[in-house]
Amino acid sequence: MKKRLLGTLEVSEIGMGCMGFSHGYGKVPEEEYSLHAIEKAYEFGCTLFDTAETYGREMFYPGHNEELVGKALAPFRKHVVLATKFHLCPEELEEGRTPYDAVLDHLTASMNRLKTDYVDLYYLHRTNDLVPVETIAEVMGKLIQKGLIRGWGMSQVSVDTLRKTHEITPVSAVQNLYSMVERDCEKEIFPYCIENHIGVVPFSPIASGLLSGKVTVDTKFEGDDVRKFVPQLSKENLAANQPLLDILGEYAKTKAATAAQISLAWMLHKYPNVVPIPGSKNQERILENLGACNVTLTDEEFAALESALNACTVYGHRGHVESEQKAFSNNWRKDQP
Ligand SMILES: NC(=O)c1ccc[n+]([C@@H]2O[C@H](COP(=O)([O-])OP(=O)(O)OC[C@H]3O[C@@H](n4cnc5c(N)ncnc54)[C@H](OP(=O)(O)O)[C@@H]3O)[C@@H](O)[C@H]2O)c1
Repeated sequence: MKKRLLGTLEVSEIGMGCMGFSHGYGKVPEEEYSLHAIEKAYEFGCTLFDTAETYGREMFYPGHNEELVGKALAPFRKHVVLATKFHLCPEELEEGRTPYDAVLDHLTASMNRLKTDYVDLYYLHRTNDLVPVETIAEVMGKLIQKGLIRGWGMSQVSVDTLRKTHEITPVSAVQNLYSMVERDCEKEIFPYCIENHIGVVPFSPIASGLLSGKVTVDTKFEGDDVRKFVPQLSKENLAANQPLLDILGEYAKTKAATAAQISLAWMLHKYPNVVPIPGSKNQERILENLGACNVTLTDEEFAALESALNACTVYGHRGHVESEQKAFSNNWRKDQP
């Protein structure tokens, strides 16, 4: 697979989101199946793997995903970029500890679960009001100096936050919600990141399955499946978003690709610094998504697709503006159910 840069970290142009093996999309596969899925992705050429300390909470087992990913990557650890994320909890700082101590605790616990002595890309999962982002940037700078992390990033942030922190310790990547139906990042995040050599790692790049065209009004979402709450997937919005899915379907037919692949190929063509991390629990679909690297749009095809998309109204918007997320993050608790 072709490579792209997240700051100074070189990665395959499509990465792999590993969350679904533990959390967020209903029943999880058997461990052996998940380990094999990660191995197959690596064999295909994927070198960016995304996890977080919290993936696994629904099973009252935070850290489950890091353990799984660490185990799967062990045979080829040095050849991949391993990304994980942390949340800071109010009680950790009330105990009179410094932000550096608190972050180091999180990183040490993650590295133990991941069975590694460094993390390539360490993200603040959400900003909060407990610690100024400038302080987080300083802490990250120290961790880089100590060789414990190779680069750092933040998730769901505004360009103002990015600007404040990038000046202190250069940011490698920002991980925000981005897809054909969630295009807020196009206004400020992409232009700023391109200018400042920062990678953009979209999460939910297939809009939680919507852009595969395979979710129908009859699809059942069970257990902790977040798709129960994704507004674009409500019965009414699924029907209302059909014109956009029809456009994708047409392109898929013409290009002998799948709709999910077209949605990824579109963003790869659009931005040189984008590295999507589609998530799937299914080995075939993981390879299908990574295979989007072989679907190339000509400039004319891209322009026609872009203008067709621009003419579509998207129904349902997940949004996730930073201020709303902060309110949630300010009250984060270690024992959050
Ligand atoms: N920073 C954050 O706050 C944040 C938030 C959410 C996620 N993430 C990260 O981003 C990664 C990707 O997010 P996501 O999992 O929401 O992405 P996504 O790929 O947009 O959505 C995953 C959902 O789409 C389905 N899907 C994926 N590819 C498909 C295909 N080709 N055909 C049909 N269905 C398909 C999956 O079903 P199957 O499993 O059945 O294939 C799953 O239900 C996560 O794994 C996680 O690492 C980060």
